[in-house]
Amino acid sequence: MTILVTGGLGYIGSHTCVELLEKGENLIVLDNLSNSKLDTIEKIEKITNKTFKFYKVDLLNKEEVKRVFDENEIDAVIHFAGLKAVGESVQKPLLYYNNNITGTLNLVEIMQEHQVNKLVFSSSATVYGNPDRVPIKEDMPLSTTNPYGSTKLMLEQVLQDICLANSQFKVVILRYFNPIGAHKSGIIGENPNGIPNNLMPYICKVASGKLNFLNIYGNDYETEDGTGVRDYIHVVDLAKGHLSALERMEKNDSGAFIYNLGTGKGYSVMDIVKTFENENNIKINYKMVERRPGDIAKSFADPSKALMELNWKAEKTLKDMVRDAWKYEINNS
Ligand code: WQD
Repeated sequence: MTILVTGGLGYIGSHTCVELLEKGENLIVLDNLSNSKLDTIEKIEKITNKTFKFYKVDLLNKEEVKRVFDENEIDAVIHFAGLKAVGESVQKPLLYYNNNITGTLNLVEIMQEHQVNKLVFSSSATVYGNPDRVPIKEDMPLSTTNPYGSTKLMLEQVLQDICLANSQFKVVILRYFNPIGAHKSGIIGENPNGIPNNLMPYICKVASGKLNFLNIYGNDYETEDGTGVRDYIHVVDLAKGHLSALERMEKNDSGAFIYNLGTGKGYSVMDIVKTFENENNIKINYKMVERRPGDIAKSFADPSKALMELNWKAEKTLKDMVRDAWKYEINNS
């Protein structure tokens, strides 16, 4: 099959491209390079020893997106392209709504003009807001507390409405929990611009001496050790979930199908710090500070629906995640 991956040079996108190429799929990548680097192309080719077509295209430029579909026979699309920093979305809502919503509407419109009817959509556990219980199942209440999360929730609704109107159109919506880690080669990984917002890349910068210490945002949550609990999932497990989603598309049904991609296990900030220290034999300096506004105490998935319907489950351990994250940091600092 020929798969178009939007945002394919990003963190999760690049790991998914590696899995697609290794499976023998024909790959086309579209990326505007706003939060990724061109040299990721060579890195993906180095890991897989395969090549693929790349288009530097912004989804807000309909003519350019149309050209990609005019020039290629595309069977399915995996759509990662989008802005994803929660804090930034609060400061710049218009940027997020325009980029994430309009960009996706452009993509889907052009897909339909070219009779491309299979879409895997990158969503997020953030659509569950502050859940009143865990583990979280797909049919639990949805709510958002920031513009980034709202773009994901709105787009889930848009895509489900399109499926209702067009019985040919099929969408698999994947709600990611907390992706961390890197490909075992250490060649690709998470490399956010500037000071990392997320826990694991921040820990890696402290471990490599680029940052002095980790601020742990709150140790007074209703959790075992008082620090926030999340469902950390290895980015390679997450990438493989996208291939399972493509296989799900081959069933002769239609509509929108929603799955949590998590491990089903919750780990606290201190669990992550201690596991990172023990696995990599490195001391992480940290300070307990005030809670971060908007943070929730506990979030982890019930991934049983993905196991039953996608025959997918996360295989890698927390030790794999912290070891692979550190290997990437060492290789790329
Ligand atoms: C994890 C835990 C923090 C940094 C976010 C987005 C979500 C998704 C994943 C896009 C929390 C604590 C963090 C630090 C800390 N992104 N922490 N010090 O907030 O669960 O999810 O990223 O889809 O949409 O909301 O991830 O890694 O920022 O935080 O103590 O320097 O680590 O309080 O408990 P989060 P995170």
